[in-house]
Amino acid sequence: MIHIQKLIHDFLIRDEDGNVEGTVRAIDGISLDIRPGQFIAVLGHNGSGKSTMAKHLNALLFPTEGEVLVDGMDTRDESKLWEIRRRAGMVFQNPDNQIIGQVVEEDVGFGPENMGLPTEKIWARVEEGLQAVDMVKHRHKSPNRLSGGQKQRVSIAGVIAMHPHCIILDEPTAMLDPSGRKEVIAAAHKLHKEEGITIILITHNMEEAVGADHIFVMDKGRIAMQGSPREIFAQVKELQELGLTVPEVTMVGHLLAEKGLQIPQPVLTTEELTEAVMACRGGKRK
Ligand SMILES: Nc1ncnc2c1ncn2[C@@H]1O[C@H](COP(=O)(O)OP(=O)(O)O)[C@@H](O)[C@H]1O
Ligand SMILES: [Mg+2]
Repeated sequence: MIHIQKLIHDFLIRDEDGNVEGTVRAIDGISLDIRPGQFIAVLGHNGSGKSTMAKHLNALLFPTEGEVLVDGMDTRDESKLWEIRRRAGMVFQNPDNQIIGQVVEEDVGFGPENMGLPTEKIWARVEEGLQAVDMVKHRHKSPNRLSGGQKQRVSIAGVIAMHPHCIILDEPTAMLDPSGRKEVIAAAHKLHKEEGITIILITHNMEEAVGADHIFVMDKGRIAMQGSPREIFAQVKELQELGLTVPEVTMVGHLLAEKGLQIPQPVLTTEELTEAVMACRGGKRK
């Protein structure tokens, strides 16, 4: 689905007169592959290059060096630009910057309309997109009457309506309350499971990465670590050195193990923690 080869991205820094006075290397030699149907999480502290990488996947930025292929299409090939953006849909952090329609269903229909689909097909796509994120009952509402989580689901519905192969979500829950976060992450998992859509979830929230197939950890524009959630979250110290933590339940398991309890590392869910603690107590429930 995605092939990144030796990608480098330099931003040009300009002075007040527009003259280039320097460069910032935001991506510093990344190579990675993402297979169709994977659920990928990308972690990394602020400024590690996550959003810059995401914008390469959607052909919003172009390589300074190296190459990015989306479904085999080179992002530098201008004739493929719109097809790349359709196949690799993007959802950003701030829901208020992405919704332009006055009514939910109108907003979801913008993409298919711009693709030049006939009216009845547009309506079918709108229906489909809203159903995928459980927002059909809100279709006639004004977006500004929705909660943050609902707005993000409308943004996702708009992407779904384009029949993408891949959805890139760049910190989609950063501005949401806990219930909004859950809604959005559940919607991403549903699309992955039921539609087989490749998901790339960029997040600050370690809990949200637990359900991924594979995690990339970024630091200073490079891939610092990668592996399954179990492999990544076993490395508490290494993550801390990169300015990151682990899910709360993993940390509890880690601290208990440090105190000498026989708890297999890492713990990823509360069920696992309960089981492990019970096993230490001889498996007797009160
Ligand atoms: N438009 C830009 N112009 C100059 N530097 C930028 C621009 N966008 C991002 N950067 C720099 O690139 C680096 C990576 O930023 P970004 O990809 O936004 O990181 P993240 O999403 O992980 O927080 C940072 O040092 C940031 O300051
Ligand atoms: Mg970012």
